[in-house]
Amino acid sequence: MKYLIANWKSTKNVEAALSWVDTFNKFVYKDKNLQKKLNENYLKIIICPSYHLLYPIKKSIYKNKNVVLGSQNVSFFDQGNYTGEVSAQNIKDLVEFSIVGHSERRKYLKEKDNEIDQKVMLLKDYSIEPILCIRDEKDLIPDKVNYIAYEPVYAIGTGKNENVNDVINTKNKINLGSNSVFIYGGSVNPENMTQYLQSSEINGFLVGNASKDPQSFIEMASKI
Ligand code: PGA
Repeated sequence: MKYLIANWKSTKNVEAALSWVDTFNKFVYKDKNLQKKLNENYLKIIICPSYHLLYPIKKSIYKNKNVVLGSQNVSFFDQGNYTGEVSAQNIKDLVEFSIVGHSERRKYLKEKDNEIDQKVMLLKDYSIEPILCIRDEKDLIPDKVNYIAYEPVYAIGTGKNENVNDVINTKNKINLGSNSVFIYGGSVNPENMTQYLQSSEINGFLVGNASKDPQSFIEMASKI
């Protein structure tokens, strides 16, 4: 199974998100080959919008077991009186996955390893699969994390994607379990993704900028 994950970050309001979904759906309806890949568990598409978009997208997105939603974050508190927080319990009916530890959160929100651990634990409690972002081989990987997204900071949003050999070198330094899914992220786009697809070491992509436009996102899905 290959994974294509859209990380829209904090960019879309409801109208923009629904317009993206509309275009996405039209493309998928036209692309029989893509439908086959989804139906045959060859490809899973995970769309990670901001929280406010989860429900409207869930309602309107192309229905398929391999087109699912993820959140971009989750609270390290369980459900309760934590004004402004969104807990794993709050979103468990909407998402199958949740990104945790994205480098932008580590940088701008000063997110710490113990908070990331706590988030992973809560997600697991509510049967949501964490996708842990690591910046390099030194970032800690809590037990029970199966999905690792390696995203070198210099490559995020810069157009400077890391070449496939360097990505694999880093992978080899990480202690991965046999069930681990290894995902690369950092300026992946329809043009540069071929080199990664040629390697069986890379199980998927976490895509920021190139996922915000439905056409380039679909182009990537078709190439996988
Ligand atoms: P990018 O973002 O594709 O724009 O580099 C990736 C990410 O931050 O997850």
